Amino acid sequence: MRIHVIGGGIIGLACAHELSLRGHHVVVVDPSPGTGASHAAAGMLSPAGEAWHGEASTWELGVRSAALWPSYAAALGVTLRQTGTLLVGHDAGDAQLVRRQGDLLAGLGVEAEALDPRELRLKEPTLGRASAGLLLPGDHAVDPREVVAALMRLVRLVPERPGESPDATVIATGSRLPAPYDTLVRGVRGEILRARCDDPPRHVVRGWVRGEAVYVVPRPDGEVVIGATVEEHAAPPVVTLGGVERLLRAARVLVPSLDRAELREAIARDRPATPDHLPLVGQVEDRVWLAAGHFRHGVLLAPLTAQLLADSIEHGRVEPAVDPCRLLRPGRTA
Ligand code: GLY
Repeated sequence: MRIHVIGGGIIGLACAHELSLRGHHVVVVDPSPGTGASHAAAGMLSPAGEAWHGEASTWELGVRSAALWPSYAAALGVTLRQTGTLLVGHDAGDAQLVRRQGDLLAGLGVEAEALDPRELRLKEPTLGRASAGLLLPGDHAVDPREVVAALMRLVRLVPERPGESPDATVIATGSRLPAPYDTLVRGVRGEILRARCDDPPRHVVRGWVRGEAVYVVPRPDGEVVIGATVEEHAAPPVVTLGGVERLLRAARVLVPSLDRAELREAIARDRPATPDHLPLVGQVEDRVWLAAGHFRHGVLLAPLTAQLLADSIEHGRVEPAVDPCRLLRPGRTA
């Protein structure tokens, strides 16, 4: 088939790559590929850390996609950081939040090791004062910029839609979908910082500091990514002084060695959020598919999304949890 993928973020690129591997003639149309939400993302592959009440389907999809990541990363030649994630609470109130996540994960049957403050410091000496923690051994990380660069080398990219008429069009434009799908996704701003640190944590560290959620994701080269604000808004995503201040304050309490880190970048992008926080992957009209709306989970869900989308195009198979028709025509599937 001749397939146009509109949008060169991690989702569009992953879909295009999978479809190319299956023998289709694919072009990705994007005048500035790899510069949207994927460019800001920290790259946590974190189904357990991101698990939330009422979002069991999101967690299940995350677990399925996380299982694909080791071979996916190897095939792309990108580094998969597999040191696990520490979930840390700073004060007594934050410890309650850690315990609440632990209870949620226990209910889902997820492996998580409770750690007291001494055990936490032994595992991660860069931590500041911590009241409670959990080791999430299955939550890993990749560098989304490395993944996007690898995918861009493997697909055909063009700035504008070619004149030829395709057999299938995949809309993968994240939080900015064309009508009539534009109302299905809203932007939820995330501000994120990148710094260079001589004494970075060994693990991905996420947690709460006086109720403020924050994560610190180390890269092998000493870069640390600090994120992220979460803000519903109706304006273009910009970095705000308040957002940067909240992130820095929380991150430096969690990992005090960040105090000496060199601030390299502050960036804001919109997460593409759907009303039920599940993505849109499937056919929406004759010859048109969506692969969008991945909210906080675009990097994690990229390999699974690519498979689901390709299966849908090739075999008409519909995964009910992500079928866009649940929102377009509730009660019906395509
Ligand atoms: N997945 C982390 C975030 O959206 O901030």
